[in-house]
Amino acid sequence: MSATARKKAPNAEDIRARKGGEPLVSLTAYTTPMAQVMDAHCDFVLVGDSVGMVLHGMASTLEVTMEMMILHGRAVARGLEAAMMVVDMPFGSYEEGPQQAFRNAARLMAETGAGAVKLEGGVEMAETIRFLVKRGIHVMAHIGLTPQSINTLGGYKVQGRDAQAEAVIADAQAVADAGAFSVVLEKVPQVLADQITSEVAIPTIGIGASAGCDGQILVVDDMLGFFTAFKPKFVKRYADLGPAAEAAIADYAAEVRARSFPAAEHVFADQAPAQGKK
Ligand code: KIV
Repeated sequence: MSATARKKAPNAEDIRARKGGEPLVSLTAYTTPMAQVMDAHCDFVLVGDSVGMVLHGMASTLEVTMEMMILHGRAVARGLEAAMMVVDMPFGSYEEGPQQAFRNAARLMAETGAGAVKLEGGVEMAETIRFLVKRGIHVMAHIGLTPQSINTLGGYKVQGRDAQAEAVIADAQAVADAGAFSVVLEKVPQVLADQITSEVAIPTIGIGASAGCDGQILVVDDMLGFFTAFKPKFVKRYADLGPAAEAAIADYAAEVRARSFPAAEHVFADQAPAQGKK
């Protein structure tokens, strides 16, 4: 069912039930207006920790805090009616163990109204995912290239090539067995993504993976051309709004300098007050 025909947003069980069905559509969002624009077109919207890089100019996602995720989560929630909202758990908020993860996931859910949280990691996070799910928190997993581990992965490299493939398959199986309702596969070879999609029981959400995944996600600022610091191969630019915004700002600056803005239609041309009267 398309989002426009839906009366209420899907929940994690609805997303899980889409395994093998019509592809799930998802984008990231960080603000109310952007959430409003995508609401009718997406099954779920991710408040990604990519917010640190694309909105706050950070060099990686490692500096992103719980406070930032809550602030942006609340903003996105105000813009959604038809799509489910998932919020990323930031680096350092869940890796110590299940209790720490529960405390912070519960806070994210309570303070943003999210339907689920997303966390990065496979086999090593299975125990934490199981703990959260058993206590009422829906978890989306994220495996393959996990940007919060950029230092130990040695850069934004494709994961799961050749002998590495078995490890990514084990990660997918572990998070599915632990109760995750879906799993993001980032930057993995197409054949591997297709194999995982056919073998695991939960929907796979691809980003730099395969059109055969159960759904796709992109960072909205990448696909609209607002974030131009770098462009991964897997990003398709559906619009080039960064240059369009700069051209509009240049027009505005030129008109202000020429005193042609504001024009007659932008000002309040009341009569001048009579001389001597207050
Ligand atoms: O933070 C993010 O935007 C993400 C997506 C790339 C899946 O995790």
